[in-house]
Amino acid sequence: MCGIFAYLNYLTPKSRLEVLDLLVTGLKRLEYRGYDSTGVAIDSPDSKNIVMVKRTGKVKVLEDAILEHFSGGEYSEPVMTHIGIAHTRWATHGVPCERNSHPHRSDEGNGFVVVHNGIITNYNDVKTFLAKRGYEFESDTDTEVFAKLVHHLWKTHPTYSFRELVEQAILQVEGAFAIAVKSKHFPGECVASRRSSPLLVGIKTKTRLATDHIPILYGKDDKKLTSDQDIRPHGQTRELPVLPRSDSTSEFMPLEEKEVEYFFASDASAVIEHTNRVIYLEDDDVAAVRDGTLSIHRLKKSLDDPHAREITTLKMEIQQIMKGNYDYFMQKEIFEQPDSVVNTMRGRVRFDGNAIVLGGIKDYIPEIKRCRRLMLIGCGTSYHSAVATRQLLEELTELPVMVELASDFLDRNTPIFRDDVCFFISQSGETADTLMALRYCKQRGALIVGITNTVGSSICRESHCGVHINAGPEIGVASTKAYTSQFISLVMFALVMSEDRLSLQQRRLEILQALSNLADQIREVLKLDSKVQELAKDLYQHKSLLIMGRGYNFATCLEGALKVKELTYMHSEGIMAGELKHGPLALVDGSMPVLMIVLRDPVYVKCMNALQQVTSRKGCPVIICEEGDEETKAFSSRHLEIPRTVDCLQGILTVIPMQLLSYHIAVLRGCDVDCPRNLAKSVTVE
Ligand code: F6R
Repeated sequence: MCGIFAYLNYLTPKSRLEVLDLLVTGLKRLEYRGYDSTGVAIDSPDSKNIVMVKRTGKVKVLEDAILEHFSGGEYSEPVMTHIGIAHTRWATHGVPCERNSHPHRSDEGNGFVVVHNGIITNYNDVKTFLAKRGYEFESDTDTEVFAKLVHHLWKTHPTYSFRELVEQAILQVEGAFAIAVKSKHFPGECVASRRSSPLLVGIKTKTRLATDHIPILYGKDDKKLTSDQDIRPHGQTRELPVLPRSDSTSEFMPLEEKEVEYFFASDASAVIEHTNRVIYLEDDDVAAVRDGTLSIHRLKKSLDDPHAREITTLKMEIQQIMKGNYDYFMQKEIFEQPDSVVNTMRGRVRFDGNAIVLGGIKDYIPEIKRCRRLMLIGCGTSYHSAVATRQLLEELTELPVMVELASDFLDRNTPIFRDDVCFFISQSGETADTLMALRYCKQRGALIVGITNTVGSSICRESHCGVHINAGPEIGVASTKAYTSQFISLVMFALVMSEDRLSLQQRRLEILQALSNLADQIREVLKLDSKVQELAKDLYQHKSLLIMGRGYNFATCLEGALKVKELTYMHSEGIMAGELKHGPLALVDGSMPVLMIVLRDPVYVKCMNALQQVTSRKGCPVIICEEGDEETKAFSSRHLEIPRTVDCLQGILTVIPMQLLSYHIAVLRGCDVDCPRNLAKSVTVE
């Protein structure tokens, strides 16, 4: 939700045009996070003011506006030190328009400008407080209050450093945020912070860094900072107290490089083309760059806080975030699945010895085996991967398995016990509902297992243990390869849990054998692409598509329907075939498009039953069936045949035609495949 990108060059000459180019490229990489409107802020040619350009729409619109606005020669002069900030928005407060686009400013003189990702929940209180002090607001956003609050603090505490001003401001705000702030009063400096929204700092130097960590500077007096003072009591607007400054005397220089460039970004894909050295900020870290020196501060220290933040080397490759020969990222990601599933298993599954090791959880397996129940929690597609594997987990772990949508789980205040094991499944590792559910379970003493695709994400960091699904960066907003890799990760977990169960060995061998064939079988399914495209031509003008199945394939129905909805804006429903006669059958007639998954597994007879119910109501379904299954094919002229595999892995092969179908329908309907309307990839707001 919203992408932040900031770039600071210190003693590294760059023209403003080059800086703008860098900012726009950074935004393009983050566009999947939100694409309602965009904006940038840089220094004016005389460096005395800040110039902003904002546009409604995607980054391309901003790029064109920049080309038009900054054509003058003065913008091509190199500057030694400069800071530019940029933002791509997914609207939460206020409609997408230029007025609501970031950066937001503190005053007409653009004293402080801010880009923000997240939601400031007490923004009304802060707004009332500031309005009483003469501040006028020009947008409908929560973010604007932050810029004005920093300005107010600057006026009331003129001796404060830039970093201290931002620190004081973040003490007053509640909710989730990642912010980057630029100020004309503090040229060449940037201050950034995060709470519950991701933010990292990329560091680029000419020579290798002398250090692999940045020491954290803690506030000296943390006790006074814990009271519920200030703006926060609702409706009160008393003057802000002067809080202790965090470390005003120590001018410790943790990372001092002569020529250095810093990149502040919502995620690694925006920095990887510049540097692979990053620091993932933690909640309430305040990162400040002054005179080319990065320091990280925290206002209070608790016992288990570390002394430093590590500089991590990213493993990502630039090609992974480029479209290559594909038209869309989603298309590329669908076709990457033969490789991504192998990457998920790489180094973990030994097909020759029938052994599986999940390094990230192996020490916890004895504890997990003793647990009361397994809970699988996620949102959207990630939730569907839990639905898809639940039956196998029940079978191989012999434990009760609950599958929960994170939002509903929280709404219900679900009882959680110390001997529960809770899995949090999330591609991004930042989904707010999933993260909140994780914290809820952690507070109650449960063991937390993260299943994520994003190294360094909040869910990774806050889990006790976990599995990286290693699917590689997923950029298309619609999740595809992450789903199949989450699926496999959970299957591998089930196999680990049943390693010493004699009665389950035959079943395990059958699954391991099927896993070893999976990549080739996915390649076979992908060959259906042109057939699926033809099918899409039959379907794309319809209003609705019903997708029916049961057993191991019910998750494919839910996931397929979600893909169709989000990409094509058609109505689509995943229907449990066993429920057909309890209501949904009323929808079926000769004109209603229906797709049915009927495979040779333990529920085959029941699925055939459903198929007959549909055809006897004049429904003419598209059938996904097994290769060469003439009996099933006889029920319809339109079918997609997939290779035979073990029942519990069928869902991986059946979901691929659904991904392709939604993709082709979206293209035929003229929808923006990678950026579906109203959506964003990383949902960091509740
Ligand atoms: C659908 C989709 C979403 C996400 C959901 C959870 O294609 O991508 O439904 O699956 O927003 O996101 P993560 O997995 O990042 O927690």
